[in-house]
Amino acid sequence: MHRQHRFTPTQVLSFILFVVNLSILTAQAQNLPPARYDGFVYENRQGDLDSILIEAFFDPVCPDSRDSWPPLKEALKHYGSRVWLVVHLLPLPYHDNAYVSSRALHIANTLNSSFTFPLLEQFFKHQEKFYNAKTINLSKTSIVKEIVKFATVAVGNSYSSAFESGFNDRKTDLKTRVSFKYSTSRGVFGTPFFFVNGFVLPDAGSPLDYHGWRGIIDPLVGAKSSQRINVPHFI
Ligand SMILES: *[C@@H]1O[C@H](CO)[C@@H](O)[C@H](O)[C@H]1NC(C)=O
Ligand SMILES: *[C@@H]1O[C@H](CO)[C@@H](O)[C@H](O)[C@H]1NC(C)=O
Repeated sequence: MHRQHRFTPTQVLSFILFVVNLSILTAQAQNLPPARYDGFVYENRQGDLDSILIEAFFDPVCPDSRDSWPPLKEALKHYGSRVWLVVHLLPLPYHDNAYVSSRALHIANTLNSSFTFPLLEQFFKHQEKFYNAKTINLSKTSIVKEIVKFATVAVGNSYSSAFESGFNDRKTDLKTRVSFKYSTSRGVFGTPFFFVNGFVLPDAGSPLDYHGWRGIIDPLVGAKSSQRINVPHFI
């Protein structure tokens, strides 16, 4: 007996939902690679292949990231334009407010890129406020409110509502996800982690002091200038 198969409306509907779901999944996968390279360039001091690139992986509410910042900043000041820094964020899953703090930095960066580092420094200075134990009784909503208040101290009160709507903008969520994915794709599993010219430094996950930075960068700067001096010799 030949029986023609007909789909019930429920079957048709669930098929459509299945396809829609699939396309949402595909759309999310298409966010990688991102249109723009991840990271925040310090002081807009963008270098080239002839300058030394430091990449720092930070969590804004991580005490070791905080402690590593002043000596790194001092080293950057010492080397000037020979060295440039890109900061990537890795919100650590065991820091309850790391993701929302990282997202705040992406919002600040979207509003005006010169807001990013002042806000990062403000997180470092007052990060205890957002530690797990301190915020254990707070709802997600009240933490976002706190962070908006906190951030406008760094970027200016006139940005309060722009900042608040930044938290409702899916784009800033996606940028924060890209940061997380980028960091993990580099094999970074803690903070701070530092890469110099693309190579990870030993003792990853612990702060380096100023002399540590000089010990790493001085020979590289020296190697560069001796290369230049030697060029006519080899020709
Ligand atoms: C960004 O902020 C800097 C420093 O506050 C200011 O000089 C600049 O005009 C701002 N840029 C924009 C586009 O608002
Ligand atoms: C959280 O709430 C509990 C129960 O009310 C209280 O004992 C504790 O002190 C609160 N912790 C903080 C950090 O507010």
